[in-house]
Amino acid sequence: MSVTSEPFGSTAAGHPVERYTLRAGSVEARVITYGATLVALRAPDRSGTMADVVLGFDSLAPYLRHHPYLGSLVGRFANRIAGGRFSLDGASYQLPVNNGPNHLHGGPGGFHAVLWQAEAGDDAVRLRYHSPDGEQGYPGALDVSVTYTLGADGALRLDYEARCDRATILNLTNHAYFNLAGSGNILGHKLQISADHFLPVDATLIPTGELRPVEGTPLDFRAPTPIGARINADEEQLRQAGGYDHCYVLNHGGDLGVIVARAVDPLSGRVLEVRTTQPGVQFYSGNFLDGSLRGRGGQPYARHCAFCLETQHFPDSPNQPAFPSTVLRPGEIYRHSTIYRLTAESPS
Ligand code: GLA
Repeated sequence: MSVTSEPFGSTAAGHPVERYTLRAGSVEARVITYGATLVALRAPDRSGTMADVVLGFDSLAPYLRHHPYLGSLVGRFANRIAGGRFSLDGASYQLPVNNGPNHLHGGPGGFHAVLWQAEAGDDAVRLRYHSPDGEQGYPGALDVSVTYTLGADGALRLDYEARCDRATILNLTNHAYFNLAGSGNILGHKLQISADHFLPVDATLIPTGELRPVEGTPLDFRAPTPIGARINADEEQLRQAGGYDHCYVLNHGGDLGVIVARAVDPLSGRVLEVRTTQPGVQFYSGNFLDGSLRGRGGQPYARHCAFCLETQHFPDSPNQPAFPSTVLRPGEIYRHSTIYRLTAESPS
């Protein structure tokens, strides 16, 4: 187990950015202090060949420009808030509208685009950020931290913690894009999600409020199914999102002991297992990637070249009283954890 760090350039304002490398067994994770971003996650396939299984860039510059949240720590509120509006304790708030008519991923100056303070441990790096009252339109000052810990069993664990000085809303996630083959597309990856229901969305990808059974729909991943098997099905939900971009209501939401999602690349044998304390997971099949973004080694990031399993509370919760609450009050401690574990399996 080891943690090392090195300089990774500096921001436009001249602040130095550091890159931390965590190594445990044969897995290696890299996190930068800009956006608390997971920039690399290298793991062996079934014959021991290493590959990077998350999308990322080789240098800092592309992270500083607007990008589709590759590995970003997303907050204050991951996913969409309708019209960027919500009310809390009788006051109304307007957040920046940065995705069609809606607020997405904390706004343009969200947690993915700020500099975090890092502190290394033996097998972990803890990143902290103080978000002032009113930042990106959100009420209350917030002290937030995320700790990335790499275990010898190939598990990358993210522990989130936050406290506020005034009631606010919070929904943190990590937006890693996985490709267990390390290149090509993910349509042949088999995915399983333990969810009997998903949240259908409207044309602007805001949940309608309904919890819809996956049964009989191409969104059913209760049994392992190739991501590409039904992605082009003539179904309204898939059409309007251009593929999968839906929040699944986890059957065992809140229980870190249960594997809630599992993806396998049959060719390399690499397996990703996801566990979380969160009630939902946004499964996004990289629908908006179009090859114009060039990532690691100059690779064009094409449509469906990666998938995200963003563990989180439900989108637009502040406007949906039936959804679990995302309100944080002074004196309370926000705590969530997610574990992404990488292993490899032999051909069956
Ligand atoms: C999330 C959203 C998608 C898209 C990506 C980033 O997964 O749900 O609609 O915005 O982030 O491009």
